[in-house]
Amino acid sequence: MKGILLAGGRGTRLLPTTLAVSKQLLPVNDKPLVYFPMSVLMLAGIRDILVISTPEDLPQIRRLLGDGSQLGLRIGYAGQPEPNGIAEAFILGAEHIGDDGVALILGDNVFHGYDFQGVLREACHDVDGCVLFGYPVSDPHRYGIAETGRDGRLLSLEEKPAVPKSHQAVVGLYLYDNDVVDIAKNLVPSARGELEITDVNLDYLKRGKARLVNLGRGFAWLDAGTPESLLQASQYVQLLEQRQGVRIACLEEIALRMGYIDAEACHRLGVALEKSAYGQYVISVAEQFAEQGRQS
Ligand code: DAU
Repeated sequence: MKGILLAGGRGTRLLPTTLAVSKQLLPVNDKPLVYFPMSVLMLAGIRDILVISTPEDLPQIRRLLGDGSQLGLRIGYAGQPEPNGIAEAFILGAEHIGDDGVALILGDNVFHGYDFQGVLREACHDVDGCVLFGYPVSDPHRYGIAETGRDGRLLSLEEKPAVPKSHQAVVGLYLYDNDVVDIAKNLVPSARGELEITDVNLDYLKRGKARLVNLGRGFAWLDAGTPESLLQASQYVQLLEQRQGVRIACLEEIALRMGYIDAEACHRLGVALEKSAYGQYVISVAEQFAEQGRQS
């Protein structure tokens, strides 16, 4: 399965901060926001990833992530000159997707929860149609909203409904089979002039091929698109990282634990950042990992 990380848009709700800096490069506690969605794709076992952003922001994002080889990934880049809608990602990424299925993740979504890797592994296995993820929210008019029956079956999907049928938001992580490319190419722009992701999902729903996985209330999902939510994401990550002494969305650690790189390569990446607590953490993870390897 291929990955697409959509990190475009103008970040208008974060102006003036985003006048000169991409939203996805702003810090969430100790690392750039884009590390969080990237970590999700990596945990899902996806290593071939296209990052889409505005032509202005792409050079900085590329400077941060490079070609991905340092993390055992393959990262490519594509520009989206105008924010024509989330579903445009499948048109811009058609060549990258090829004959495969694809996981799309929004660049401002932060996920954290117990055994998320297991949830992802199970959901990504043999996707036939689309797999969406639901999460309970208190402000459903801000999101794509899913209505499910008693048996958990998906009944309806609405984008930012004035009168929401439920409190279950569809989060910014979507898994599709290869049909998504054709579906996106045939979409008609919505009233706000965008190719809506919810319209893609509705197409699958009509064909009886949309499934919703409930992430549940024990999970954390945050979209960091406003000053308040960006700060909340930082506070959440800071609290957990300080309390537990482990870091969330540390790409070097994930690459090591997933077997994409070895301890020596991880250590080198840490040394390049050694003046920061983040770099020191990467070094200690690499050392512990190497030590465990020697003992076993
Ligand atoms: O966060 C989950 C929600 O994301 C879903 O519940 C909604 O169904 C979905 O439409 C989307 O709603 P948003 O209001 O958050 O969409 P927004 O237009 O803010 O775009 C989300 C991110 O995608 C944002 O960080 C910028 C990026 N983006 C957006 C568009 C429209 C692009 O890179 N290109 C685009 O053309």
